[in-house]
Amino acid sequence: MPSVVVIGAQWGDEGKGKIIDYLAGQAKVVVRSQGGNNAGHTVIVEDKKYAFHLLPSGVLYKDKVNIISNGVVFDPEGFLKEIEILQSQGVDTSNIKIDERVHVIFPYHKKIDALEEEARGDQQIGTTKKGIGPCYMDKIERSGIRLGEMLDKELFKERLFYQVDRKNKIIEKIYDSQGFDKEEIFNTYCDYAEKIKQYVTDTTVIVHEALEAGDKVLFEGAQGTLLDIDLGTYPYVTSSHPTSGGFCVGAGVGPNRLGEILGIVKAYTTRVGHGPFPTELFNETGDLIREKGNEYGTTTRRPRRCGWFDGVMVKYTARVNGLTGISLMLLDVLSGFEKIKICTGYEMDGKVIHHFPANLKTLGRCKPIYEELDGWDEDITNIERYEDLPLNARKYIDRIEDYLGLPVKMVSVGPKRSQTIVRETLF
Ligand code: IMP
Repeated sequence: MPSVVVIGAQWGDEGKGKIIDYLAGQAKVVVRSQGGNNAGHTVIVEDKKYAFHLLPSGVLYKDKVNIISNGVVFDPEGFLKEIEILQSQGVDTSNIKIDERVHVIFPYHKKIDALEEEARGDQQIGTTKKGIGPCYMDKIERSGIRLGEMLDKELFKERLFYQVDRKNKIIEKIYDSQGFDKEEIFNTYCDYAEKIKQYVTDTTVIVHEALEAGDKVLFEGAQGTLLDIDLGTYPYVTSSHPTSGGFCVGAGVGPNRLGEILGIVKAYTTRVGHGPFPTELFNETGDLIREKGNEYGTTTRRPRRCGWFDGVMVKYTARVNGLTGISLMLLDVLSGFEKIKICTGYEMDGKVIHHFPANLKTLGRCKPIYEELDGWDEDITNIERYEDLPLNARKYIDRIEDYLGLPVKMVSVGPKRSQTIVRETLF
């Protein structure tokens, strides 16, 4: 099967960008199919740093087709800014295709996102305030505006004016805040449409034809499984499906078209935003992981919460995605710890459990049960072969494989493209 799906198998920020960039080098088509510019991928190539939010990471290669498919929510302002930054870094952005079905994010979505967060008080989700949830709400409610419609001026005006009137009522009456001028949004978005129309098409055709021709297709995940609207730690989730099933609807392909399903996991665990996190460390070890791993959000710069590797959680995410392998990221961050812990069960109200609870209150009461392994001191950032890793690092990987029942196919030992140990070629 010529397709590889890259999935975040924790709470997002697992380092998908780097693996996607690596695999994109071998693919012909790269597809982003859910979320929006709430995502943040950092890719480092030859000491140059690139930050991606909405664009597929394949744009760094000249000969790839980069697709933003139907499941994405699309912020034209964010898209144009991202293109501009990449162009100023010398990147050719001409080979991007955006599906005409993507739902468009408008200023009222962003404003409602922020106002709703404020209204939640101490129940905040910790959203990126990019308007993702409110835009998906409109989509599900069947009142959203799709990009194809935005290109049809007359239809767009009618749909937009109706929407702005409705949203202004909500913003003014429910949130006691100031609404928007519909003419102004219309004119701004018509300008965006002029700049964007060259990229817009039916991307499902491109993906189908590529798969039928046996071309290599990379499905690039954003966020992570535990942020899935159904399978994640609801309500502390995003509004899309960053799980393997999400690619089927988000890119218009059948499940039998998904080949390798690679789960990206950090060698430890992090989370941004609120919600329970059983292995979270509130001590110097957690601080040390944060500093060594530079665990600050790419999109918001928020410090990430850090903790040990949670095997119970990854076993769950492996099952719901049907993972076929793991890429273990940031292993170098764990160098220098005398002992390293893996959570292999939870203690919940005096009972030992081995599954990841669906109920958040239950999850909040779970205390991790750890296995302790010896650490290693060596700097591993220049190691290229698995066999050359220190024995204890290999023991750590072996234990993760054994516990999950899945092969660790790649190991990342630093942020650069070259700092990747590939144990099995995927394409
Ligand atoms: P939203 O996606 O902006 O609605 O935010 C919902 C939740 O998902 C918040 O906890 C965010 O911090 C989290 N989130 C959204 N995108 C990402 C991501 O790319 N990485 C990690 N967390 C994310």
